[in-house]
Amino acid sequence: MKGYLSACFHCNNTAKFAKTKIFELYGLLDLVEIIALNSNKSIVTRRILPLPPNNYQDKIQQMFNKRVKIKELLAQEPNNQATGFSEEVTVMGWVRTFRNNQFIALNDGSTNNNLQVVIELGKFDDEFLKRITTSAALKATGIIIPSMGKGQKLELKATDIEILGDSDAEKYPLQPKKHSLEFLREIAHLRFRTNTFGSVFRVRHALAYAVHKFFNDKGFVYMHTPVITGSDAEGAGELFKVTTLPFDNTPRNDDGSINFKEDFFGRATNLTVSGQLEGESGATAFGDIYTFGPTFRAENSNTARHLAEFWMIEPEMAFYDLEDNMNLAEEFIKYIIKYAMDNNREDMDFLAQRLAEEEKQLPQDKRSELGLIAKLEFVLNNNFERLTYTEAIDILRESNHNKKKKFQYPITGWGMDLQSEHERYLVEKHFKKPVILSNYPKEIKAFYMRQNDDGKTVAAMDILAPGIGEIVGGSQREERLDKLEQRMKEMNVPVEEMWWYLDTRRYGTVPHAGFGLGFERMVQFVTGMTNIRDVIAFPRTPKSAEF
Ligand code: 4AD
Ligand code: MG
Repeated sequence: MKGYLSACFHCNNTAKFAKTKIFELYGLLDLVEIIALNSNKSIVTRRILPLPPNNYQDKIQQMFNKRVKIKELLAQEPNNQATGFSEEVTVMGWVRTFRNNQFIALNDGSTNNNLQVVIELGKFDDEFLKRITTSAALKATGIIIPSMGKGQKLELKATDIEILGDSDAEKYPLQPKKHSLEFLREIAHLRFRTNTFGSVFRVRHALAYAVHKFFNDKGFVYMHTPVITGSDAEGAGELFKVTTLPFDNTPRNDDGSINFKEDFFGRATNLTVSGQLEGESGATAFGDIYTFGPTFRAENSNTARHLAEFWMIEPEMAFYDLEDNMNLAEEFIKYIIKYAMDNNREDMDFLAQRLAEEEKQLPQDKRSELGLIAKLEFVLNNNFERLTYTEAIDILRESNHNKKKKFQYPITGWGMDLQSEHERYLVEKHFKKPVILSNYPKEIKAFYMRQNDDGKTVAAMDILAPGIGEIVGGSQREERLDKLEQRMKEMNVPVEEMWWYLDTRRYGTVPHAGFGLGFERMVQFVTGMTNIRDVIAFPRTPKSAEF
């Protein structure tokens, strides 16, 4: 090897500098590494090319993916020398529309804004032009010029167009018009190509990134808890079984029960309903951990807030009490909302507009008081309301809503589980802001929650969000071995099988706490989408797992 040069191509004048350097050196080198950066300086492409003498230019021409993303292009000023776009650029994407055999609206998924690609009249023959149909995939190369038309600052004057994938526009299910969200759910594999889902899923991505950033910056360890487990963390029995046993001729014990010793794992297993129990063993070693993974519940709830497969973020912290837990949860929620608002403004504005239009169809009293952006700004700028379960029951019992018998489930008194309508009354009608409810009756909560001195309540906390209801469930954990074992027995949780969990209380037990945030409910809250099926790529709900 004679030499090696690594060059960074950023879409500004550093690119020119890098190219000049390469030309100065070629002949001396036999390898060149090319790194293309986007405007955030993150790496878009990285290639190592062999560089035989005198054909560097040819090699560059042969690179297939030297495309520029449309979002990045549209952010540039036309004719600005510093942008580097006075040179030829290549874009690739899918045709949204094609007008007058001349104007292609091209979308590559980086933004809802299309790039106008202009075809010089007479440059391509009719047969070729016919193949430029809605949804066809193409590669266009040309020069960026200021646009004469309205609606865009710049456009691409195409010198070359290559069709990468033809599409039968007659059969393509998406037409350039508004489709209902219900219809789009039936073509979940194509709905990403619409503006609404483009924005939703880019915001979902930003929120997921912000989750990792938040915890990473605080020194938490990201822990991958298992998808297949033998335990039912929530004790709710909503388990999907995992087995390789045959359905016919299932091996049985003498008493007729299924012999799981013959099963793949030699025991009964299920898909996880929560990574918390495993997370606790991480927290009692690393201090602070979080999990972020798929979670499965065979709840037969066909609502706009339940999925059978959803994603949950579960931080677990040693040396935290209930209040520390609430403080972290509130800070976390605000952080990820702010991240999306700061980094995805274009998509957020689009979603706000969409929601405003959707709400126009509703009667006045069903419309939100605040638009999406104002709602989120309000959440960022105000403390969440904190009160106990007992105080909440008093408010609900005394409410006119209850007195006028407007709740489907009337407030029967202390000890009752709160229904979503009660939670939403508290956040939407009474406090008009997110609420943290704490110290619930122990009978309606899981076995692992720390028992309060009153003997009746546990150190639980739920966060309720406007329009959604419960978004977070968490607690301080019972760290006292005797109390925990006793509660497990009372609630028929198999103490023996859970020896590994109880070991965390045997060997240096510590006060600790954690919570679970339902990621899709959070995405709903930030995007304003009313149905949870519209914020996950491939929703799994009762009787539905088509794709
Ligand atoms: O309140 P949950 O059941 O709490 C736990 O699982 C605890 N182990 C969490 C912890 O302390 N580490 O669930 C937590 C959150 C809910 O508040 C809700 O946002 C979401 O998970 N969630 C669901 N989201 C969509 N579909 C479902 N079927 C959900 N069930 C719970
Ligand atoms: Mg809960």
